[in-house]
Amino acid sequence: MPPSTRLADAEDATAIAAIYNQGIEDRVATFETRPRGPEEIAGWFDGTHPVVVVEDGGAVIAFAATSIYRPRECYAGIAEFSVYVARDARGRGAGRRAMEGLLAAASDAGFFKLVSRVFPENQSSLGLLRSLGFREVGRYEKHGRLDGVWRDVVIVERLLPANMSGAPAAHALPGRHHRTPPRGD
Ligand SMILES: CC(C)(COP(=O)(O)OP(=O)(O)OC[C@H]1O[C@@H](n2cnc3c(N)ncnc32)[C@H](O)[C@@H]1OP(=O)(O)O)[C@@H](O)C(=O)NCCC(=O)NCCS
Repeated sequence: MPPSTRLADAEDATAIAAIYNQGIEDRVATFETRPRGPEEIAGWFDGTHPVVVVEDGGAVIAFAATSIYRPRECYAGIAEFSVYVARDARGRGAGRRAMEGLLAAASDAGFFKLVSRVFPENQSSLGLLRSLGFREVGRYEKHGRLDGVWRDVVIVERLLPANMSGAPAAHALPGRHHRTPPRGD
């Protein structure tokens, strides 16, 4: 059977943590250096921000996740995102599947834009995102230090046209409070 994509839930936290920790160890994708445990990943499931996983042969091989962009209500329709593929599954289409699933899930959830920041050296991520219609907005210079070295990041964004007109989605209405802290690059 070909790999499949589905919405994730807290039961996927262990598999997601293992994949995220590989990405953290590899130092190619994030300023984070502290490994994450499943209990912390379980906190990502806030009922507002969808997370998707790609499964192959019954095993989770990739995930893509949305998270809060900013706490201000005017930005409630924007989500941050991240995408990680298990080390031994990279370069075989799982990242694309995960992001296609996340774009659909974020659109269904009422978000009108996804944003993130990518290291300029991370050509596989930039290539994937470009091919999915993300725009490179610009570059933050020396946006953080990874292992003591200043690193730039490329800002990327993609509008979700289904949610660009009409009333804001339910989650974007005033009075909803996000419980999860922001997760960045
Ligand atoms: C970046 C990452 C998510 C891409 O997922 P993947 O499964 O390896 O990539 P895919 O096989 O789905 O490739 C999808 C597209 O990405 C692009 N791409 C992949 N590898 C590339 C490379 N080395 N150079 C340029 N573009 C590349 C291509 O556009 C490719 O399209 P194609 O299938 O038409 O060739 C994955 O490699 C990964 O998890 N890396 C470590 C963590 C990370 O960098 N996450 C992103 C954080 S911003």
